Amino acid sequence: MDRHLSLSQAARLIGVKRGDIQKKIQENKLTVMEGTVVLSDLKNAFPDAIYEDNTMVEKMEKFMKDAVHKMAQSEREGAHVDSLSRRIVRLNKELSEERNRADQFEELIDGLKQKFMDLKINASHENTFNEIKTWFNMAIHNLKEEQLTTPIESLENQIKQFMLPHVRLLPSRHDFISDKSETLLESALRSGLAVDYGCNNGKCGKCKAKLLSGSVEKTLHQDYVFSESEKSQGYILTCSNTAITDITLETEEAVCSDDIPLQTIITKVKKVQKVSDNVMVLTVKTPRSQRLRFLAGQHIELSIKSQEDKQQAAVIAEYSIASCPCEPANLEFHIPVSADEPFANLIRDNLKINQNLTLKGPHGSFVLDEDSPNSLIFVAWDTGFAPIKSLIEHAMSLEQAETIHLYWMTSKVENHYLDNLCRSWNDALDNFTYTRIMCEAKTDVVADSLMQHIHNEHSHLLNFDLYIAAPGHLNHLLKPLLISHGIKAQNTHFESIFHGQEVQD
Ligand code: FES
Repeated sequence: MDRHLSLSQAARLIGVKRGDIQKKIQENKLTVMEGTVVLSDLKNAFPDAIYEDNTMVEKMEKFMKDAVHKMAQSEREGAHVDSLSRRIVRLNKELSEERNRADQFEELIDGLKQKFMDLKINASHENTFNEIKTWFNMAIHNLKEEQLTTPIESLENQIKQFMLPHVRLLPSRHDFISDKSETLLESALRSGLAVDYGCNNGKCGKCKAKLLSGSVEKTLHQDYVFSESEKSQGYILTCSNTAITDITLETEEAVCSDDIPLQTIITKVKKVQKVSDNVMVLTVKTPRSQRLRFLAGQHIELSIKSQEDKQQAAVIAEYSIASCPCEPANLEFHIPVSADEPFANLIRDNLKINQNLTLKGPHGSFVLDEDSPNSLIFVAWDTGFAPIKSLIEHAMSLEQAETIHLYWMTSKVENHYLDNLCRSWNDALDNFTYTRIMCEAKTDVVADSLMQHIHNEHSHLLNFDLYIAAPGHLNHLLKPLLISHGIKAQNTHFESIFHGQEVQD
């Protein structure tokens, strides 16, 4: 069976622009069927294309051929093959980069070795010199062996993952891989799916789903008792079972903020980390029996009491959740310390690890449009990065967006407080671009600066969804500018940030 690729996948695979592929289609040199091209046709149309690593591509083709026979349902097949293809292309690129880097080191080492040889050594130092030479040769030998094993192990892990049971949810048609060491619920959440659940330990029945095909195995005791009718229809609890074959489940998922109930959860402070002069990252842990259900991009009320003065009323503030719903056990918040706010001061001066912190919410509709086929642009001003980080991590876990571009704007170097994280996304993901923008904190300057970057990097915004977390008056100014650059109004999403550095009019 020949491999079908989307135009973007094909372009990435052979290292040409999407436009080059479209040109071949217009010239009738390449056939397109339902938005895909066949790998062998692609090779004929681009005989001189340089594959980043032919051995890996061949492995991918062979692997696809063998693995596809395992797939029972043709529709599901497409989704998983695409997902694996993206991973292999990414690995392929990493492998090429690693090889280049290794070659450079090898040259350096050869040069060093030659310098050693050319050294004039007198007889009294000869033994010492030979010892160093033996050690040096051994170290190079060991290093080479390590470098060789890493990418192969990585490929094996990807293949193992592909062979794990696949779960399809209906009616959403979302798919995820079920790891045997996890419950179905844990695997679904890790994959970024907003499935319903409550206690997470087999008591409440909120995670129940109808098993339409395949087999599951119970991994945890469950107290919830199904009615006779539920039993005969094949209902299971996703928090107490794991898949042992490919399965199909019928269950509802939250698609908008109205589907998420308001919750009150007492969490424990896990970590407070000062990541810059102006920002602390607060991490809280939710109890296993009461994880927070939320959608990426939402915010929540945090309430905490001083440990020093028990008589004092709780201090309350609202912050965006900076982590992904795929990590419901640990929730992250970015707290600006420069702001003269009682909550920030208490976190900075008096917070103790394991102290109780109450969450009420979530709120807000600044959430990802998961049905949209568009590429994504995210814009954050200062600590507006918190909801944007949550959205980006969620978008990554869904693996749906063709490209993701992040613009993080601020006026001070230290306010790019998680710059390393953004750069690591940029380096590790072939469809992710990070642009760091520094400019004066004035509304018109910020707007001009952003629009200039967008004009230079995107000729129009017709096929994009845009998410911006910035002060309200800046959002107001940006919307018509962005629409005039081709984006549809319904594809723009704005969040007014509550805290952080102000932008002056
Ligand atoms: S989440 Fe309560 S029974 Fe599964």
